[in-house]
Parts: sequence; C-alpha cells; structure tokens
Amino acid sequence: MARIDIKGIQVLITAGPTYEKLDPVRFIGNYSTGKMGYALAEVLANLGAQVHLVSGPVQLSLKHPNVQVYAVESALEMYDACVQLFPKCQLAIMSAAVADYRPAHRADNKIKKQADTLQIDLVKNPDILAHLGAIKTSEQIVVGFALETENELENATQKLIKKRADAIVLNSLRDPGSGFGSDNNKISIILPKGVIFEFPLKDKHSVAKDIIECIQDHLLHS
Ligand code: C5P
Repeated sequence: MARIDIKGIQVLITAGPTYEKLDPVRFIGNYSTGKMGYALAEVLANLGAQVHLVSGPVQLSLKHPNVQVYAVESALEMYDACVQLFPKCQLAIMSAAVADYRPAHRADNKIKKQADTLQIDLVKNPDILAHLGAIKTSEQIVVGFALETENELENATQKLIKKRADAIVLNSLRDPGSGFGSDNNKISIILPKGVIFEFPLKDKHSVAKDIIECIQDHLLHS
C-alpha cells in the first residue's frame, strides 16, 4: 500500500509547557522541554506539510520555511491560538504539557512573604485536545499524548474515548531514559477499536517519524 502523501497539508502542533502566572515574577509550570513537538514539526515540514507550531516557553528554535511558530505562555493563550488555527488544519497533534489548573487570581504585585502557610486557589484550564475532538469535522484528525504512571493502556484508551481523539501516543514514566527532558522516548500508539502499536526506545526524531508514518498509514485518507 502506498503511503499517503502529506505534502501541502496544514498541521497544527502544540509543544512545550504552559506557564500560569501567580504574580509578575512567579508562575506554575512543568518540566516539558518541547523536544517531541518540535521534532514532529520538523519531520512534517521536511515532508512538505505546512506546520503551525503553537509553542509554550521553551529553549528550542525551529527555522524552516514550512513552519510558523506561535509563541504563547499560558494554557488560555494556547487554547485561543489553537481555536483560531484549527479550522484550516487537516491534522492536529497535541504534544504540549498543558497545565490542568491556573491560579484563580493573578496578583498585580509580587506576593509578599507573610504567614507560614499560603493558600492559592486554582481553577481548571480548558482542555484543548478535548475541545478540538469535540468540534472536529469528519475530514480532520486529532492526535493526543498521554503520560501515565499506572494502568497506562487503560488510562490512555479512556483518554482516546473521552477526548474523541483519533489516536493517543502513550509514553510511560516507567520506561527508563524516556519522557520529559530526555532525547529519547518509548511510545505506544493507541487507535480506536483496541488497535495498539508498540515501539522500542528511540531518539525523539525517530519517534516523530514513527508517529507520522502511523498517522499516514492508519488515519489520513487520500
Ligand atoms: O488529560 P491529560 O492532560 O493527561 O491529556 C494529555 C493530552 O491532552 C495531551 O495531548 C495534551 O497536549 C492534551 N491537553 C490539552 N489541554 C489540556 C490538557 C491536556 O490539550 N488542558
């Protein structure tokens, strides 16, 4: 079977962490480096796709004629950028580590040290993947990631169903040498109807190629 040509298709990718501001100098964030999302963007761009890369704060840069980078900081900014870009995209890959919660109030001035304990109220951020899954047309493919520490396959399969994704890329924190900050990743790809592909530990560029080939062979239609 000939592989579906990805040239010219518009792709939305999210990458990196989000920063949720507490005050002008502090935020709640996570250790995501964005390496996986940037690798996906580069591989897709080299195949001729037009990539819209919505990136949280990272130390990476990607200069490629087929890649447009939209720098965002918070989950709400990432959500807004994705909602704007998604209608023109045929494929969306959500690899960002989006903060589930943000501070309910952002202080205008630096929060002062006072009592021995400090409570911070958090409110839920919108789930970008679930939103795109809910609004996608029959022509659009939405792929999510899952980082699980227990009941990996079961939780990732639940995520696929709940967020109406077409595939979930599962990486387990249990696998040594993979995950946040690492140059390598060990993934499984979960498709509907219990179809699962498992891959050995590889560098993130090779992992990106595996993910894209799987999307070409099993999800995209000519
Ligand atoms: O529910 P969980 O955070 O484990 O889901 C991970 C997947 O959902 C990833 O693809 C991530 O990019 C996406 N996600 C999102 N918006 C959120 C939370 C997660 O797009 N607010």
